[in-house]
Amino acid sequence: MEYQPLKYIYKPSGIEGANTLLLLHGTGGNEQDLLPIADYFGNRFNVLSVRGNVSEHGMPRFFKRLGMGVFDEKDLQFRTEELIHFLGVLATKEGFDPNKIIALGYSNGANIAGSVLVTHPDLWSGAILFRPMQPYQVMPAVKNEKGIPVFMSSGKSDHTVAIASVKGYQEALNNGGFNATLHQINTSHGLTQEDIELAVGWFNQNFK
Ligand code: MLT
Repeated sequence: MEYQPLKYIYKPSGIEGANTLLLLHGTGGNEQDLLPIADYFGNRFNVLSVRGNVSEHGMPRFFKRLGMGVFDEKDLQFRTEELIHFLGVLATKEGFDPNKIIALGYSNGANIAGSVLVTHPDLWSGAILFRPMQPYQVMPAVKNEKGIPVFMSSGKSDHTVAIASVKGYQEALNNGGFNATLHQINTSHGLTQEDIELAVGWFNQNFK
């Protein structure tokens, strides 16, 4: 299978050498969904929002799944490489630095962001993972050399994601050299104002 480009929206900051906030939507979403959330983080970075290339009964996703919470890991690997390849091509076209990306993903978008982190640990500058799941049943041996910061937030009553498995995922990231913090919020799978406020606080601490 050949790599396909992704649909995207790009908003340059106009600031030389700025970071790029990469928005990755959840299942059934699109590149418009997370744009309002990006506004909470300020305007000192470029915003790039992409749409997943996989369609599940018409719902865009970033990779296939075999059932609820059961990932098609072969497709996940392929889509991870496809996304990285696309970002490299787009960086040249739009003029942003592909090594200064901070990902912000929700649910399925958080899961492909996690796949990039564990397969290309030194590629991105940071990641915000809302409602993440461990991307691979058996995690690749990860070694991040830079202590890259990762924000994670989970819902305590989320039926899609077991909290214990997210804690294991956070541990695996930290054992691999990332600096991952996990917040457990009194809510379910949907994103809340509290997620956004915590993530903005984390972002300001790490990237201002
Ligand atoms: C996934 O498939 O990535 C997770 O189950 C979350 C979801 O998108 O529903």
